[in-house]
Amino acid sequence: MNDVIQLLKAHRSIRKFTAEPLADELVAEIVACGQAAATSSNIQATTVIRVRDPHTRQALAGLAGGQDYVASCGAFLVFCADLHRARLACELQGGAFIPGMTEHFIIATVDVALAAQNCAVAAESLGLGICYIGALRNQPQAVADLLALPEDVYPVFGLCLGHPAQDPEPKPRLPLAAVLKEEVYTDPDGVAAIRAYDERLREYYRRRTGGTKDSCWSEEMKALVGREARPHMRGFLAGRGFSMK
Ligand SMILES: Cc1cc2nc3c(=O)[nH]c(=O)nc-3n(C[C@H](O)[C@H](O)[C@H](O)COP(=O)(O)O)c2cc1C
Repeated sequence: MNDVIQLLKAHRSIRKFTAEPLADELVAEIVACGQAAATSSNIQATTVIRVRDPHTRQALAGLAGGQDYVASCGAFLVFCADLHRARLACELQGGAFIPGMTEHFIIATVDVALAAQNCAVAAESLGLGICYIGALRNQPQAVADLLALPEDVYPVFGLCLGHPAQDPEPKPRLPLAAVLKEEVYTDPDGVAAIRAYDERLREYYRRRTGGTKDSCWSEEMKALVGREARPHMRGFLAGRGFSMK
């Protein structure tokens, strides 16, 4: 064990923040850590928009299904997958940008996730709390309009940063054996692992909520993958230039 490993394992999302805003230099340093992440072919397809305007923050919180911490956290960042810059560079060299490639979409989206997680870890190393906001994709066109996103750019998620006003216990994960496999994909006791994890997670929720939340992983997965998820995304992405060729 070392400090970095300890920090990584102590992660938990924070959804209550003090009113203390984050200094510009601190946010700049955190985003610079995001920039330092590995990036596919050095494309650097991440653009981060820090939203300060309280009205925009409130609007984003509403668009994200009323997640108040989007408005109240110390700094709110929107992580965008950005092929606009690569397009400019390609055209600068007299090339013709080929829009809509699925591979470019994957590259850009993975880049954003890696950069954001670097930011998250950097923030946590400074004692700050973080919460990703995938719910920005509930109404992604409204988000794109609010942030004046050009073509070939889409908002992947938001990230709340701030001084924690709560100290939740880390959420248990699936048993490592369910995730780490040797040589080939095997799933000898997949359902047993899920059942065991269900009970751990149910107990965690009961503890965390004083008994008001009674749920488990398989129930959550039923709600997640047992119904269509944001079916507007395909059309939205196509409209942004990500037509998945
Ligand atoms: C891409 C992404 C999007 C997420 N979106 C939201 C969100 O919109 N609102 C929220 O409260 N938490 C969101 N989360 C946080 C997850 O719910 C959380 O990471 C997960 O339940 C595990 O809990 P932990 O982060 O406390 O370990 C998101 C996490 C990720 C990685």
